[in-house]
This record gives sequence, C-alpha cells and structure tokens, in this order.
Amino acid sequence: MPGFETIDKQELKHLKKIFQNGGGVLFRHGFENIRGSSFQVNEFEKKFAQKFKSKYALAVSSGTAALRVALASLGIGKNDEVITQSFTFVATVEAIVESGAKPVCTEIDNTLNMCPVDLLKKISKKTKAIILVHMLGSPGNITKIKKICKRKKIFIIEDTAWGIGGIYNNKFLGTLGDIGTFSFDFAKTITTGEGGMLLFKKKQHFLKAKAWHDHGHENNPKVPRWEDTRNSSGFNYRMTELQGAVGISQLKKFDSIFNKHKKNKNIILNKLKKFKEIRLRELPNNSIDASESLIFSFKNHNLAKKFRKIFFKKGYSTKILPEALSWHFAGKWTHIKELNLKKNNLYKESLKKIKKHVSLQIFYKMNDDYPKKIESTLKEIL
Ligand SMILES: Cc1ncc(COP(=O)(O)O)c(C=O)c1O
Repeated sequence: MPGFETIDKQELKHLKKIFQNGGGVLFRHGFENIRGSSFQVNEFEKKFAQKFKSKYALAVSSGTAALRVALASLGIGKNDEVITQSFTFVATVEAIVESGAKPVCTEIDNTLNMCPVDLLKKISKKTKAIILVHMLGSPGNITKIKKICKRKKIFIIEDTAWGIGGIYNNKFLGTLGDIGTFSFDFAKTITTGEGGMLLFKKKQHFLKAKAWHDHGHENNPKVPRWEDTRNSSGFNYRMTELQGAVGISQLKKFDSIFNKHKKNKNIILNKLKKFKEIRLRELPNNSIDASESLIFSFKNHNLAKKFRKIFFKKGYSTKILPEALSWHFAGKWTHIKELNLKKNNLYKESLKKIKKHVSLQIFYKMNDDYPKKIESTLKEIL
C-alpha cells in the first residue's frame, strides 16, 4: 500500500509550482494568460501514456469514474449487458448499473479472476462488453478470454485499479483490451488522493470519452470554451490540476515503488516456500503481477480465518481476504437489485474458493518483523 507511504516533499514542491508559476489555476482548461504553460493534467496524461505504452490517455476524478467513462465511450447503455467477475470491488458493478446496462458476473478460476468457461456460458445476444478485473494486481486467463471476445465481437475493458505496471505477454495490463482503467485512490500503488486514468486502443473511443467526461465539450480550438462544439451529452468527471501535479510526482517514483514491492514480496515468498500446505494464487505464464499483494490458500476457510486472527493479534492485518468479502464479492450484494441475487443462489464456486485464501499487503516501507510475523503465524497454525 505505498500510495500514501511515498507522498513527501516532492509532491509538495510540485503543488507549490501551480501557485508560483501557474497563477493558482486549478482547472484543467483555459486561462492561458494567467497560468502560462502550467497544464498539470495534460502533462500527467502524456507521461502516463508514454510510460505504459499507449497512444491515448485520459485522466478522470476516480477509478470508478474511469469505468463509467469507459462504458460511455463504447456507447453502452439501456438494453445492453456487461459481464464482469464476482470477485472485484463493488465499483465495477456500480459503473455498469450507472450506465443503464445490466450487470452480469462470472465465477472466478484459480487465478481468482474471470473464469473463461463461465464467461462463455453467460454471454447473451445483449452482451456488449466485459470488464476484466486484474483483481489485487494479478492477471487472469487473458488469452482465452480475448479469443472468446473476438469471436463474439465484445469489447474488453480492463479494470486495472490494482494492476498498474503488471505485464501479460510483454504488454502492460490495461493495454490488452479496448480500454484500460486505473485508480489512484489512497490505497493504490500510486495515488492522487482520489483520481483515475483511462488508456485507449482506438482514437474514436478516446475522443468520445474526452468529451463525455467533460459535459460533452469537444475542446474545439477554433472557438472559445463557452461556444464549444458538442455531439453528445456527458457529465463532469474531470481531474483537477492539484491531482494532476501529485500524479506527475507519483509517476516519477513508479519504478522505484514497483521494484521495491517486488523485492519485498520476494522476501516473503522465500519464507512461504517451506510451507507445503499452502498454495499460491495461480499466475498465468508469461506474466508479471503488480506485486501489491501476496495471496495464498489453505485447505479450508477455518485455517484462513485462524491465520487472520493470530496475525491480527500480532499487530498486522490481512487485506480483503478472507475478512472483507461484503464489499468485494458480488454474491453478497443483495442491495444491488440489478444483480437479481435473491432469485438465484449465485457464485457458489467462487465463494468456496476465495474463502480459503489469505491476502497479504505488500508494503513499500516494510518493517523487518513483517515477514517474520507471517512465518511465525503459519508455523503456529500448520
Ligand atoms: C477493482 C476496483 N475497481 C475500481 C475501483 C474504484 O477506484 P476508486 O476508488 O478510485 O474509485 C476499485 C477501488 O478500490 C477497485 O478495487
């Protein structure tokens, strides 16, 4: 959870620049006479696209907003269906509901992400897109899923909220489908407090999203903003200059954060090696996960619960698994009526699977005793 762990003087210095050189303009558009060349959000987008090898990037106000804007840019709405996976954060399903489409969830496989076999069963004539989540930083069986979507002519949105910097077949997560979405909330690898980003394969989707997230403004250079041209309605999901400035500073630190994560994760993995009773989450061939958490399973739920209880007493918490399913598992979301949970007893297989797992937070500033406490907890219960 390095986001807030790595915020320091660098971000503050960058923020000060907005006031010293940029005239204090916090809006991403216009006011050139006051701000000179200080366009933080524009620069953050450009640098993000370069870093993660995409042609088009759009910064927005949150990761949830990024999902909503992605759906709008693909023209998804009423009478459409969008499929995602049962193990995700509630935002993924909320964005689908907000778009007017019907959310449908699949079971998960041993990668703890979308199960391709169940995806095929759930596709209907109304399915327009899937939201593939790289849940807790690790990719799923993308090759199989992409094949299915290509054959069925279905768009792929990758929810890369946790997966920034992860790689699948030599490509960054978030650049494998039509659109990738990212979150910069307080808990993510890099943070802007609240914030999000989209990466696009096609210019037409980028342009639609750019306008839609800004009330439909096309930012036509031939006319002033108050006379701007428009082709559709939209909403306001703009990122502020404050977030943009923090984002640029955070992005500069990205490689060092990512590498430190990997190093710290490997230290813990080394400790786990000797415990033959646990099983690591499945990582597809040719992929590198974002190393922002470490997930393994026990033989049963009781052992996972016991691990958490003892670990907690030692001063550390697990992360989402096994304790926080009410916000991260679609089978619990009876409050979202569009999922029709009451009628159907859904995602039983997924629940059985995730309940056996424990997820450990990988810290940027890891205490020396953290790996030792993990090891001693495992010794105690196995
Ligand atoms: C899988 C997933 N998607 C989307 C989001 C939403 O991101 P944000 O908090 O920036 O709105 C989150 C947040 O944790 C998430 O875990």
